[in-house]
Amino acid sequence: MKIAVPKETTPYERRVALVPETVARLVKGGIAVQVEAGAGGNSSYPDGEYQAAGATIIPDRKTLFSTADILIKIQKPSPEEIGLLREGSVLIGILQPLVNPDLVQQLAQKKITAFAMDMIPRITRAQPMDVLSSQSTVAGYKAVLLAAQYLPKFFPMLSTAAGTITPAKVFIIGAGVAGLQAIATARRLGAVVQAFDVRPAVKQEVESLGAKFVGLALEEAADKSGYAKELSEEHKQKERELIAKYVRESDVVITTALVPGKRAPLLITKEMVSAMKPGSVIIDLAAEQGGNCELTQPGKESFVNGVTIVGPINLPSSMSYHASQMYSRNIASFLSLLINKEKQLNLDFNDEIIKGCCVTHDGKVLMKEVL
Ligand code: NAI
Repeated sequence: MKIAVPKETTPYERRVALVPETVARLVKGGIAVQVEAGAGGNSSYPDGEYQAAGATIIPDRKTLFSTADILIKIQKPSPEEIGLLREGSVLIGILQPLVNPDLVQQLAQKKITAFAMDMIPRITRAQPMDVLSSQSTVAGYKAVLLAAQYLPKFFPMLSTAAGTITPAKVFIIGAGVAGLQAIATARRLGAVVQAFDVRPAVKQEVESLGAKFVGLALEEAADKSGYAKELSEEHKQKERELIAKYVRESDVVITTALVPGKRAPLLITKEMVSAMKPGSVIIDLAAEQGGNCELTQPGKESFVNGVTIVGPINLPSSMSYHASQMYSRNIASFLSLLINKEKQLNLDFNDEIIKGCCVTHDGKVLMKEVL
């Protein structure tokens, strides 16, 4: 059994799919690991650490791709990379199959068994493999640090010889994994935090982190799997009125609201931005899905009436050391489902997790939503 880890080639992607810690575990368990030269360089894992963990460093991509039984990536492969894969081999990565139908067809044609880590069901047993959670944790944390960097104010309350400084008011919209991490981080920095969500289940989680819940808590806002649904027009209106009040009063607004398979809900209008205090900051973590704020420009920062609006892209990549480590641990946990004690591939398509994230196998597209 040969596992291969290439260097990521997507622009601005600094993460690596397996870190030396995981490689050492795999090698100890009798699995050969090959790593492309320099694969971990952008995430502070030099080749020497992989070698010390028992991996072989392969300088040639062609050899790496064509000899792998399982190739592990973070970003989806390019058509050229698919061309290099061996027919019948396994590919694991964040493939986003629902928005990449051409990629899925190419993988099926090449008879690749492809697993989309982003499609792993959000069930308790799958938590250690949940890359959406691990990477959102990084994004939520980093969003607060970005906000602190842009805000011309302190986060904590300070009692100084120059008098008392009042704490920053932070408003978090969307209290999923990223939002909850943002709440925890902003609280640790000493801010006063308020949070908004439409799902009722999050109220208690928000309060347990020391923030005030100001959301709508609509029973009908969550679907069976716990994700948010798109709101009715009446609720959207109610939501905007509520959000407008808190946005106006806050120094920092961090938005993380997403609805799977849809454009991110538009929650902050330009009128709301113009009512904010000068110096306020909006960090829009939904920028890649269209943005929660009307004025967000993905990948850019904008300055409107003294308000800074940041639409970061791929925040986990900016903390590539720990983001890679967490991703790598998620992968190790997933591999233990795919590989048996004899170090053979053992694909149990009755397993809810394998069934849930296997996109293509044996020349067929398995996800009916993609067909
Ligand atoms: P997400 O990234 O899809 O969405 C982020 C947040 O935005 C969610 O809390 C959602 O309710 C909120 N949102 C959507 N529309 C909104 C609107 N119009 N206004 C305000 N907020 C809005 O969510 P994430 O972080 O991926 O979590 C989704 C669900 O999965 C949650 O219920 C979470 O508890 C659950 N989960 C389960 C896990 C497991 O058991 N393995 C692991 C991680 C999450």
